[in-house]
Amino acid sequence: MEIKGKRVVLTGAAGGMGRLLAKALQDKGATLALVDANADALHQVAEGLPGSHPVAGDLSSAEGCRIACDECLELLGGIDVLINLAGINSFTAYEDEDPGKIELMMRVNLLAPMWLARAILPSMQAQNSGRIVNVGSIFGSIGFAYFTTYSTTKFALRGFSEALRRELADTNIKVTYIAPRAVKTPMNSDAVMKMGEATKMNMDAPDDVVQKTIEAINNDRKDIYFGFPEALFVRINVLFPRLVDKALAAQNRIARKFAKGEA
Ligand SMILES: NC(=O)c1ccc[n+]([C@@H]2O[C@H](COP(=O)([O-])OP(=O)(O)OC[C@H]3O[C@@H](n4cnc5c(N)ncnc54)[C@H](OP(=O)(O)O)[C@@H]3O)[C@@H](O)[C@H]2O)c1
Repeated sequence: MEIKGKRVVLTGAAGGMGRLLAKALQDKGATLALVDANADALHQVAEGLPGSHPVAGDLSSAEGCRIACDECLELLGGIDVLINLAGINSFTAYEDEDPGKIELMMRVNLLAPMWLARAILPSMQAQNSGRIVNVGSIFGSIGFAYFTTYSTTKFALRGFSEALRRELADTNIKVTYIAPRAVKTPMNSDAVMKMGEATKMNMDAPDDVVQKTIEAINNDRKDIYFGFPEALFVRINVLFPRLVDKALAAQNRIARKFAKGEA
């Protein structure tokens, strides 16, 4: 899909990846509605991108998503691309996970993309074109210890993307699922960064993910999994999950110390 001239809604636009993706999309000629809960940061991003429309809003409820969607539709006059990028994570032993955080992560990482897609789909169907891009994670294919809730949300987002893509296969509305590996952004706490160093976790620069996301849209990719060996591990995990259990066991023991605040 050619990005030039497209009306794009980008959620999480004030975040580490979002602000770079917003600029890259505008550079390619898209008209942008930028959605984020962090109103101050969002307005800063929009000021740097003349012609873009900031839409400050909390996407953690169906009502919040409906309000944001209505505002985007009104501002853009229609939507060609929805990019569900907003997300939150949590790095902790599951016994320490806050139940409220479990619900919030399900809402922001899974339900918001589902609610937004549901709200926008009728207008895409009316114009018989569109693309929904869901940003998941490698952790949505490889269940990752101490990111248990986060992994769960991204597994479900991948399932949603696959099912919706198949449901829309006979239409001109496409679904793309993007699965980055770890990325250097503010999403990752100091504990995650230190654990990443201790376990030699590969971490990409946000710019790399942005460029590949643009390529995925341009080249009509159904999905994209980042990095070697992570993308290979995704395939091995389907066929031989016990091998991946073994490969990750030592790393998990190190990660536990950081997740429990004992390192
Ligand atoms: N960073 C990684 O290692 C990594 C790896 C793989 C996949 N991903 C995925 O990539 C996406 C972007 O991540 P990032 O690294 O750019 O994260 P980030 O820097 O934390 O940015 C996320 C943005 O989403 C916003 N947001 C959070 N909750 C929201 C809500 N309820 N309503 C509206 N906006 C909300 C945040 O606002 P606040 O600042 O106010 O919270 C923030 O601006 C996420 O879906 C993430 O899961 C990230």
